[in-house]
Amino acid sequence: MKAAQFSRFGGPEVLEIVDLPDPHPGPGQIRIAVHAAGINATEWKLRKGVLSFGAGLPQTTGRDVAGVVDEVGKGVTDVAVGDRVFGVSDDGAGAAELALLTYRAPIPPSLGFVDAAGLPVALETATRSLDALGVGRGISLLINGAAGGIGSTAVQLAVARGARVIGTASTANHGYLRLLGAEPVTYG
Ligand SMILES: NC(=O)c1ccc[n+]([C@@H]2O[C@H](COP(=O)([O-])OP(=O)(O)OC[C@H]3O[C@@H](n4cnc5c(N)ncnc54)[C@H](OP(=O)(O)O)[C@@H]3O)[C@@H](O)[C@H]2O)c1
Repeated sequence: MKAAQFSRFGGPEVLEIVDLPDPHPGPGQIRIAVHAAGINATEWKLRKGVLSFGAGLPQTTGRDVAGVVDEVGKGVTDVAVGDRVFGVSDDGAGAAELALLTYRAPIPPSLGFVDAAGLPVALETATRSLDALGVGRGISLLINGAAGGIGSTAVQLAVARGARVIGTASTANHGYLRLLGAEPVTYG
């Protein structure tokens, strides 16, 4: 398969398209034909060398992916070949023709592949944070950096759970936060 990888740290210019062996799913994993891969903050931080998960060079890239299931591993019952799914590429190698996923969900009919590929890590981070805090009806929640990727995702989920949401953002983003159902305030 074709995949994007980098052999030195730097800007987008260090990315190159290479041939890698086709991956095959182990137990609990699925393989998707990737239709879209998102660029999370993690991607550029790893690519620039300002963040490390201990992997050497060359490194593949791409956590957030959306596509169509084309192979399933042993024990998989939640999705089947042909389903549209989005999720997190297991080995951070989603910017490729094929990706392996353990953490995934069906793409709702209202979402296209590109929009779905912008969501997984931010959505998982926001959901896990709201769950840890027990956010629901009757709760007032302050979200800092509420207009960003994680912030705006957390705002929408918290509002949907019935919480009152106050979000810090620069003034230019206050209208956007109001649209999402939050009460905007400036920093400080
Ligand atoms: N994306 C993920 O899935 C993920 C997962 C785990 C952890 N994180 C961490 O969570 C944090 C937010 O990530 P994100 O992806 O939501 O980032 P993002 O989309 O860039 O959003 C950051 C927001 O913070 C606000 N901000 C305030 N002070 C800022 C400053 N000095 N520079 C830049 N932005 C500033 C900006 O909104 P205003 O212009 O309105 O101030 C911006 O929209 C990061 O520290 C990231 O490493 C992210």
